[in-house]
Amino acid sequence: INYNKVHFVASYGKASQIPPSTCPEVSFVGRSNVGKSSIMNKLFNRRGLVKVSSTPGKTANVNFFEADGVHFVDLPGYGFAQRSKAERDRWARLIGDFFDSERSFNLVVSLVDIRHDPSKLDLQMIEFLRENGFNFIVCLTKADKLSKSQQGKQAASIRKQLGVPADRLIVTSSESGLGIDRLKQAIVDFCLD
Ligand code: GTP
Ligand code: MG
Repeated sequence: INYNKVHFVASYGKASQIPPSTCPEVSFVGRSNVGKSSIMNKLFNRRGLVKVSSTPGKTANVNFFEADGVHFVDLPGYGFAQRSKAERDRWARLIGDFFDSERSFNLVVSLVDIRHDPSKLDLQMIEFLRENGFNFIVCLTKADKLSKSQQGKQAASIRKQLGVPADRLIVTSSESGLGIDRLKQAIVDFCLD
C-alpha cells in the first residue's frame, strides 16, 4: 500500500450517513486519548492529516481516509469520563450502528495503552469483536513511555487479560515508529489478496 497517496475522504456524525463500502476498510477503535489518530498519522507519515489532541475526545465523528484503494476509519474514542451522558450515548449509538452495519470490515485495530491494565470498556470492546467474528489486532500504544523490559512485562500481562494470541498483538509507538511495520504487514494481510 502506497501511504503517500493518502487523502481525507469524509467525516460523518451518524452511522446512517456513511455510504456503503467501496473498498477494503481498516478501522481504529479504543479509549479516548489512547492514540488512534496519532497511529494513523504515523502510518501515513503525515503529521497533521488526522487531528490529534492531548485533550481526550478530540475525534467526535467517524472520519474516512483513503490510501491506495484502502479506507482507513478513525472512530471517536470511548471511556472519556468528563463527557456528558448525552455525548456518551451519542458515541455508543455511532459505534454500535457502525459495527452493526453491512460493511467491509477487513481489519479492526483495537488500541490499548501499554502503561495500564485494560479498562472494562477495553475488555468489552475486544469481547464484542471476538464474539462477532471481526478480524482484529490489538496495538499497545505509547510504548516509548516505558523501558524495554517494562514493555515486555506489560505486553505479556495485557495479552493474558485480553486473551489474544501473540500474533494478534503489536507493541507500538507513534513517537518512535516501533511496531508500525508489523501493523502495515497486518493491513496488507487482511486487505489485499
Ligand atoms: P480521541 O480522538 O480523543 O479519541 O483520541 P485519540 O485516540 O485519537 O488520541 P490522539 O492520537 O489524539 O493522541 C492523544 C495524545 O496522546 C496526544 O497528546 C498524542 O501526542 C499522544 N500520543 C499518541 N500516541 C503516542 C505515542 O505513541 N507516544 C507518546 N509519547 N504519545 C502519544
Ligand atoms: Mg482521535
